[in-house]
Amino acid sequence: MNKNTFRAVVIEKNTTGAFSQSIKQKKIVDLPINDLLIKVSYSSLNYKDALSFSGNRGVSKNYPHTPGIDAVGIVKKSSVSQFNVGDKVIVSGYDLGMNTAGGFGEYIRVPKEWVCHLPTGLQSLESMIIGTAGLTAGLCIEMIIKKNDISGKKVVVSGATGGVGTIAIKLLNMMGADVTAITRSIDSKEYLMMIGANEVISVSELLNSTKKPLSRSTWSFAIDVVGGSILSALIVSMKYGGIIACCGNVSNPNFDANVYPFILRANQLVGIDSAETSIDKKSKIWNLFGSDWKLNDLELLHKTVLIDELFPEIEKMLEGEQIGRIVLKHGKSK
Ligand SMILES: NC(=O)c1ccc[n+]([C@@H]2O[C@H](COP(=O)([O-])OP(=O)(O)OC[C@H]3O[C@@H](n4cnc5c(N)ncnc54)[C@H](OP(=O)(O)O)[C@@H]3O)[C@@H](O)[C@H]2O)c1
Repeated sequence: MNKNTFRAVVIEKNTTGAFSQSIKQKKIVDLPINDLLIKVSYSSLNYKDALSFSGNRGVSKNYPHTPGIDAVGIVKKSSVSQFNVGDKVIVSGYDLGMNTAGGFGEYIRVPKEWVCHLPTGLQSLESMIIGTAGLTAGLCIEMIIKKNDISGKKVVVSGATGGVGTIAIKLLNMMGADVTAITRSIDSKEYLMMIGANEVISVSELLNSTKKPLSRSTWSFAIDVVGGSILSALIVSMKYGGIIACCGNVSNPNFDANVYPFILRANQLVGIDSAETSIDKKSKIWNLFGSDWKLNDLELLHKTVLIDELFPEIEKMLEGEQIGRIVLKHGKSK
């Protein structure tokens, strides 16, 4: 390797339409022409990356492609006044890792509008343990607390052992909420209680105890990453004035609903998107994670891997078996 080339995960599509994944040397000169060249120190694994890795056209249309919707690193070249060489920066979402070469390569080149400074209160590694998953959890919680006091309130989180779920549970616990974790893997109860859940219930318990068209009023707020029957069950189980933040579809993008929770309990179903959220709002959330929302023991939520160790972790995520957050460290050693 010389200094004009770098290692990256590359997904290729062959003439029969099949996808292959490998680690290759890429040239910096081949990155898209943009304001900032960034040497990536860490990226992280998000569900979208797993989809891009497997050739999902809903995420990435142009191949060969390097996934990685998150990156933290150091500015190596800048053509804009807002960022200087040597600045530590975070890039998450927009087109990074979708159709623009992403953080699973050691270098990215991106427009300044996608970039914010790494807050002084946050280490590079911490920012990627949080990553897009945590940013999304943060956006859900920010939406809820804008007009509500969350302390002491019952808040339910689905897909609890996943990326969004674990960061949401930790943050809600820090804010004094009474957190219920919903998980398929009740074996993870101890882990979920350790990171801040007050109660853990299995998906089957939730589904078996839910009545339609209205069930017992149980939770004030909900964060759902799963969709399908779990989202349907949460919608009919909210307290009066309850809010559900809908941000994922790991199980099913479709769900059943009726109007009663909305017209009799004044519930709200609110969609959350992190990718296209304004950079000002993203910066605000990153700064909160570096200050008022500073989470202790973040390292307990993650595993760091090198690029050669990444593929099995992606397969695990695609099988719905991943727990917590996977951080990719570029370079030769952890
Ligand atoms: N809106 C946004 O901006 C945004 C941003 C980030 C992520 N997302 C979406 O949020 C979702 C979760 O992302 P993530 O990064 O947290 O993924 P993840 O780390 O893979 O976690 C998803 C969790 O959902 C549960 N799960 C997995 N497959 C399931 C299935 N078939 N049925 C029911 N539960 C299942 C598992 O938890 P348990 O085993 O504990 O049940 C799993 O750990 C994805 O759909 C992702 O695209 C959206």
